[in-house]
Amino acid sequence: MGLLILNAGEIAHIDSAEVNSPISGHDMTDRESNVLPGGMGIMVNEGKIFSISDSESLQSEFVPDWDGHSTSSRIVVIDANERAIIPGLVDSHTHLIWNGDRSSELRLRQSGMSYSEISKIGGGIRSTVTSTRQMSIEEMVSTGLSKVNEASKYGTCAMEVKSGYGLDTETELMLLEAASVISRNTDVAIFPTWLGAHDFPIDRQRSQYIDDLLTDQLPKVVNQGIAKWCDVFCEDGWYNLDETEDIVKQSANFGLQSRLHVDEFVDSDGLSLAADLGSVSADHVAKSSSDARQKASDAGTMQTFLPGTPYVMGSEMNLPLIECIENRWNFSLATDYNPNCRILSLPLIANICCTRMGLDPLAALIACTHNPSTTLGDDEITGRIAVGESANMNILWSNDVDGWCQTPGENPFTHTIVSGNIV
Ligand code: NIG
Ligand code: FE
Repeated sequence: MGLLILNAGEIAHIDSAEVNSPISGHDMTDRESNVLPGGMGIMVNEGKIFSISDSESLQSEFVPDWDGHSTSSRIVVIDANERAIIPGLVDSHTHLIWNGDRSSELRLRQSGMSYSEISKIGGGIRSTVTSTRQMSIEEMVSTGLSKVNEASKYGTCAMEVKSGYGLDTETELMLLEAASVISRNTDVAIFPTWLGAHDFPIDRQRSQYIDDLLTDQLPKVVNQGIAKWCDVFCEDGWYNLDETEDIVKQSANFGLQSRLHVDEFVDSDGLSLAADLGSVSADHVAKSSSDARQKASDAGTMQTFLPGTPYVMGSEMNLPLIECIENRWNFSLATDYNPNCRILSLPLIANICCTRMGLDPLAALIACTHNPSTTLGDDEITGRIAVGESANMNILWSNDVDGWCQTPGENPFTHTIVSGNIV
């Protein structure tokens, strides 16, 4: 059965670049090549976009008897009523599955403690690890699935999902298995990443744990066949450059590509390492140098900014988003959903960037759709609205595509469509 959207307002189709090439520089703010004016419609068939054409011709071709309310045809009609349409959102960095409650950490931060100091007294990742190790696989699946459903209400049609709160082989494998079960029970596309190197468990010595990671966890993760990438928290106080390089290279020997956490609190030259290692994405990158940004761009390593984290931690919000545009450095935005940053909404993330860092709403949209899709390596997820591609779309309340990220406390969407199905 088909789905026909009539009387669209603006459509941000974003198909100005090749499927696998990110859009950069001032092309990210170019409305001419990325946005169609109002008056169009979209025909969807078998989960794919069949046609994008003017609304009147689509109506007479597919539902000639449609009277504004009903039709005898089996096609489901949505009257968009001049509301704008944007692609399904792509969240390329989440820590979806975990247990516990870190609400007490806000007051610790307000008393002056840093993320690293909170970790040293057993809070942060380590406290989440203790709670997550007590979960059954069923609990992992049900909590993860409820978060995916929540994210899809905010327009997300694809999510990268990291393990990383097990820090032992058994629990890391369970977290990845849970991600796989979740992906079979939702229309949202799920992309699992192994993040065994998220922290050091309190019950193991540092060198012992790295040995465990390489000789036990990694081969079993590869054998399990669920994770698409490895990730390492490469940051002063966590994994250093040498350790990160080792883990990434050994993973590459097993055929696992990498996406990394780097330069979140200080510039440790992590972005430069990610570029050298050919990581598909380097994430946080708040403190990276301009030289490293240029190098990453040349190497095809996506810089993925995670503004939700400094936002919830009350730290400065001065990510170089405008500099990225001026220098044509590829970048994406993601939620970094985790127990410390409980944001599943990409429209909120974009709102923070537009209102606090001067980012153009269309550039923010490209950074939350097409650009992250290029790091996922999946033809079904393109972060755009184009004929022959998967029908992943959001219809806005607003007539203007820029309205997608201007309702920080409200849902900006009337409909979310994932693979042709209305969520
Ligand atoms: O990307 N910084 C490392 N990992 C996560 C946070 C994990 C946590 O605090 O539980 C991040 O922000
Ligand atoms: Fe993260």
